[in-house]
Amino acid sequence: MTHTAQWYHQHNARHFWHPMAHPREMLEHPPIVIAEGSGVEIIDIDGHRTLDGIGGLWCVNLGYSNDAINNAINAQLSTLSFYNCFRGTSNTKAIELSLVLKDFFQEEGLTKCFYTSGGSDSIDTALKISRQYHLLSGEKQRNKFIAFSAGYHGTHCGGASLCGSDRFRTPYSPLLDNCFHVPSPWTYHNPFDENDEERVCEKSIKVLEQLIADEGADSFAAVVMEPIVGSGGVIVPHKSFMPKVRAICDRFGILLIADEVITSFGRAGKWTGSRLWGVKPDILTCAKGISNGCIPFGVCMISEKIAKTFDEDTSKLGTLSTGYTYSGHPVAAAAAITSISEAQRLNVAKNARVRGLELKTALLQLQQKFSCIGDVRGIGLMHALELVSDRQTKSPLPAAQMQELFHKIYRAGLMVRISGNNIIISPPLVVTQFNIETLAQALETGFENFIH
Ligand SMILES: Cc1ncc(COP(=O)(O)O)c(C=O)c1O
Repeated sequence: MTHTAQWYHQHNARHFWHPMAHPREMLEHPPIVIAEGSGVEIIDIDGHRTLDGIGGLWCVNLGYSNDAINNAINAQLSTLSFYNCFRGTSNTKAIELSLVLKDFFQEEGLTKCFYTSGGSDSIDTALKISRQYHLLSGEKQRNKFIAFSAGYHGTHCGGASLCGSDRFRTPYSPLLDNCFHVPSPWTYHNPFDENDEERVCEKSIKVLEQLIADEGADSFAAVVMEPIVGSGGVIVPHKSFMPKVRAICDRFGILLIADEVITSFGRAGKWTGSRLWGVKPDILTCAKGISNGCIPFGVCMISEKIAKTFDEDTSKLGTLSTGYTYSGHPVAAAAAITSISEAQRLNVAKNARVRGLELKTALLQLQQKFSCIGDVRGIGLMHALELVSDRQTKSPLPAAQMQELFHKIYRAGLMVRISGNNIIISPPLVVTQFNIETLAQALETGFENFIH
């Protein structure tokens, strides 16, 4: 550490605007500053050690300071630190990774990849490719998109237009035209006054069908969905939901874009969220866990059907006039190759499934004990606790109390993420049974110290 802890606290937000935060609030309430990470633990600048219950931000799937990934990055830095992949040049690691990805996504039938620098890039690339596909297919008029309430699709103007929460759109409007939202099949909160999981799903599907009928089926380019809504509150749909969306897309020639920035590479207990529901999307976006969060990186995976249309294009319309300086960055690609092989070697998807069941059991036990836990939901290693002041009315626990609870849990040894009145838990996928017990114990202590 170059400076004292106090120096870092004082300087944190003086010349640095934090994402998703008010600049003044960050000055008035300086955040926790993390200085070190190893395995599943992090240590803050004041020396407080905690279990990282959020995996960095859903991305450090294999834990911190992973030797294999560090070695791959260092070796690549010494061999070729950068070279671009724009028309005319390429680099060895980008090519090697494309074959790894083709194999990884074989079950989904996704054979081509387009490299990006993160999740938001991947989503906006997916939107562009879907429109371009329809253009090449002679259906230029297909330019509308559908997404779901509470979904999160990144922060670029395209993705933000599809985010299901107003707060990501309102300060930046007008954004992209022709974006529509359908209620997510959320059993705990839905506009249908319905509390049966399957019926909620059916009603969301009816809204989707009605929207398509009203607007004209041949005006839609794509439906964009997270197989499990993540940061919007971890909403696990009924198992029939995504297959039904797929069937509707097929019926009307609309593409299905699965936003798997969180769910790809094992978090939900299968290698992808689409696989969990038995669905093959046309485009699948990933980021985060692909490089274990070590280096900004993302990928947009593309189906054979779309690839064929581009391959067969003899006009200039199929030129991909989009891309990033760092598309196919060799150091990020090296990190990704090793992250994927390590994830497979450790079978983290299975671990997420097994540990996720233990986590869910522990969270349900906490719900029995603390009446402020209104809802427990999740699958694999992505869970949320929704905090309420009153279980009957489901009124949210006020923000100040959420912050207080966050600090109590943190002092008890666990980093969690507060999103509205949800506590989000998404630890690295390499957690052990002992780690889950520690996590649950820290939550319990936090809640006990909070109830006063
Ligand atoms: C589902 C989903 N899509 C897109 C994004 C945006 O990714 P990034 O923050 O890497 O741009 C996120 C980020 O959390 C996400 O959860």
